[in-house]
Amino acid sequence: MDTPAKEIVLSGIRATGNLHLGNYYGALRKFVSIQNDYDCNFFIADLHALTTAPDPQSLHANVRNVLAEYLAAGIDPEKATIFIQSDIPEISEMYLLLNMHVGVGELMRTASFKDKARKALGLTAPTSAQDDSDEAFERQIIGAETNKRVNAGLLTYPTLMAVDILIQKATKVPVGKDQLQHLELTRRFARRFNSFYGVDFFPEPTDFDFGGAPVKVPGLDGSGKMGKSEGNCLYLIDDPKVLRKKVMRATTDEGPKEPNSPMSEPVANLFTLLELTSTPEVVKHFRDAYADCSIRYGDLKKQLAEDILAVTTPIRERVNDILADDQYLRRVVRQGAEKARARAAETLREVRQIMGLRGI
Ligand code: ADP
Ligand code: TRP
Repeated sequence: MDTPAKEIVLSGIRATGNLHLGNYYGALRKFVSIQNDYDCNFFIADLHALTTAPDPQSLHANVRNVLAEYLAAGIDPEKATIFIQSDIPEISEMYLLLNMHVGVGELMRTASFKDKARKALGLTAPTSAQDDSDEAFERQIIGAETNKRVNAGLLTYPTLMAVDILIQKATKVPVGKDQLQHLELTRRFARRFNSFYGVDFFPEPTDFDFGGAPVKVPGLDGSGKMGKSEGNCLYLIDDPKVLRKKVMRATTDEGPKEPNSPMSEPVANLFTLLELTSTPEVVKHFRDAYADCSIRYGDLKKQLAEDILAVTTPIRERVNDILADDQYLRRVVRQGAEKARARAAETLREVRQIMGLRGI
């Protein structure tokens, strides 16, 4: 009897730097947890990285880093397909084709585009609702009197992401909250393609539901999330000395003055990290100490640093071994590209047919 085909899962991380604790808890660890049960495809988004980080040397180094970190965190190339986005030329061709059905306006209204375009132009985020209007934004982009420019790749970022997903006919896409709008656009593009050509060709992908609230790993600088562009990251490959120093420098407050005081954001953030990395007993110990005002933040930080290191040390050690083994890295991506390309080529072949690109 045939076993039913596993559902196709796909996700990628941009090759823009080393992976941090936010990437680990928000993405990597989840990828590892589902690789036995789904047809998993995890890739390194180097084409997407080009939209904001085009330096060739760093790009190349970061592709290797993300690949080694995927493997070191436990993604198994015998279970999941691991590939580099630019190893699949079919993606670039289909990106051109899908763009014919994507509106410039809808791309310009995407939150991530507005954000990144403003950064590229050196503009700060608007403070009033008026400034955030689409017209004001368009005037800034089109008429920007500056030598800075917003590259067209940034605008069409969602098309490329939709192609990553649709070309593999993936139905489940594990991503963070910030990517949900892109996923919504992917569904819209799939529906539009199907209805324009009168076909039932692309499935509409949804977010992978892991149950429970999504994890948001905070930074150590008091507010917001841990993120590469925030400059507040604890990297998986941070040397223990560096990591301890970063944790000891984390923002706190003057300490609770009365029993059961509410927690300030920086302190709550330390507890969030402790909950992710420590045992329930340790968390309870420090929560009780906070509640009865006996807490010493220095002790909390020391404990936190050691518990984070217990998570990251085995990964860091494996990363170094893996990076030293070029042959292994090459074998993994060759094998991954072969599988991913086969499916991509099949989808593209059909897309060309559907669109009327059939030669003579
Ligand atoms: P960064 O924000 O550092 O540039 P990316 O946008 O490349 O990270 O994110 C890659 C993956 O890691 C995404 O799935 C994203 O949701 C997840 N991720 C990134 N930062 C965090 C965080 N602080 N908490 C939880 N998940 C995160
Ligand atoms: N845009 C995603 C991010 O910044 C990375 C990405 C590119 C991706 N293509 C994808 C994620 C396809 C999931 C599926 O995190």
